[in-house]
Amino acid sequence: MAHQVTLIPGDGIGPEITEAVVRVMDAAGVDIEWDRQEAGIPAIQEYGKSVPDSLLESIRRNKVALKGPVTTIVGKGFRSANVTLRQKLDLYVNLRPVKSIGGVPSRYDKVDLVIVRENTEDLYSGIENIVTPGVAQAIKVVTERASHLIAKWAFEYAREHGRKKITLVHKANIMKMSDGLFLRTFEEVAKDYPDIEAEDKIVDALCMHLVMDPSQYDMLLLGNLFGDIVSDLAAGLVGGLGVVPGANIGTEYAVFEAVHGTAPDIAGKDLANPTALLFSALLMLRHLGEHEAAQKIWKSMVVNLAMGHHLTHDLGGKCSTTEYTDELIKEIRSRN
Ligand code: NAI
Repeated sequence: MAHQVTLIPGDGIGPEITEAVVRVMDAAGVDIEWDRQEAGIPAIQEYGKSVPDSLLESIRRNKVALKGPVTTIVGKGFRSANVTLRQKLDLYVNLRPVKSIGGVPSRYDKVDLVIVRENTEDLYSGIENIVTPGVAQAIKVVTERASHLIAKWAFEYAREHGRKKITLVHKANIMKMSDGLFLRTFEEVAKDYPDIEAEDKIVDALCMHLVMDPSQYDMLLLGNLFGDIVSDLAAGLVGGLGVVPGANIGTEYAVFEAVHGTAPDIAGKDLANPTALLFSALLMLRHLGEHEAAQKIWKSMVVNLAMGHHLTHDLGGKCSTTEYTDELIKEIRSRN
């Protein structure tokens, strides 16, 4: 039976890279019925909301979505569709595996990190006020419930995927109550997992250590704001946002997406690199139990990237999005 998956093309380069993924899944013989839905600017134009009810209904029905990037206007305008989706669907886990890939120019060649970020609270709770003209405040919310859920999820993931150590990242020396609660809850949960090493690091020191020697870390667990920043830093260790996948996971639903944005500078020019969204789609395939297809596509991608002949412009190559996808499909078909 076909998998029913909600597809959110998004805007900017979103429609080009989601189309590339749809073609690749098809070539690999994965039976997916895509339920196309709008979010962000196209949804505001059509429904007056960045996350229309029809999109939420579609994800609630299908349980799984693949999402292209959507524009968020800085400092004003509508609420981010990404933040809304994460909160409405209680997608409390943001998962970003960060792994070196042969052939992709990068600073390090043996990075293998898993970054887990709490996705629903912290300074991204959206509680901001103008206290008085000239004074704004944003409230950082940390709850024991969310801290417990994310810590437990991280330890379970570590066990299931053979990871040895989790580093909890915080600033509890300054934010003693909020980050203090996040840290204490992690330490409590860690007691149930004596087989996994648990340590903690202050975020500023961690950033320096990551840049100098990422091999000392295995899994990182962070709150929403630090997780957002550190996961982009980590992407920079392996070749940038164009090659790193992401997933937002909750108890009932999962939304898979690339970590980069809409790349307005290259949108509509057939220049976008679909690698990150493809890797995200592979996380989705594994989530759907399609391990064999995921492995075949992964091997084909790695071979093409390692050969270096079929790279897009952002990785120093000359391929368009379409050419990259055509070459990948040829490689997949040679393995069918
Ligand atoms: P961006 O990631 O869109 O672009 C940064 C740079 O990376 C640009 O030079 C762009 O051309 C390049 N780039 C990004 N993805 C690429 C790809 N797949 N292939 C080739 N080059 C790529 O970040 P920026 O400019 O800060 O954000 C643009 C818009 O995207 C904003 O409205 C932002 O809010 C939104 N955004 C959406 C996200 C999402 O929906 N998950 C995540 C991050 C940003």
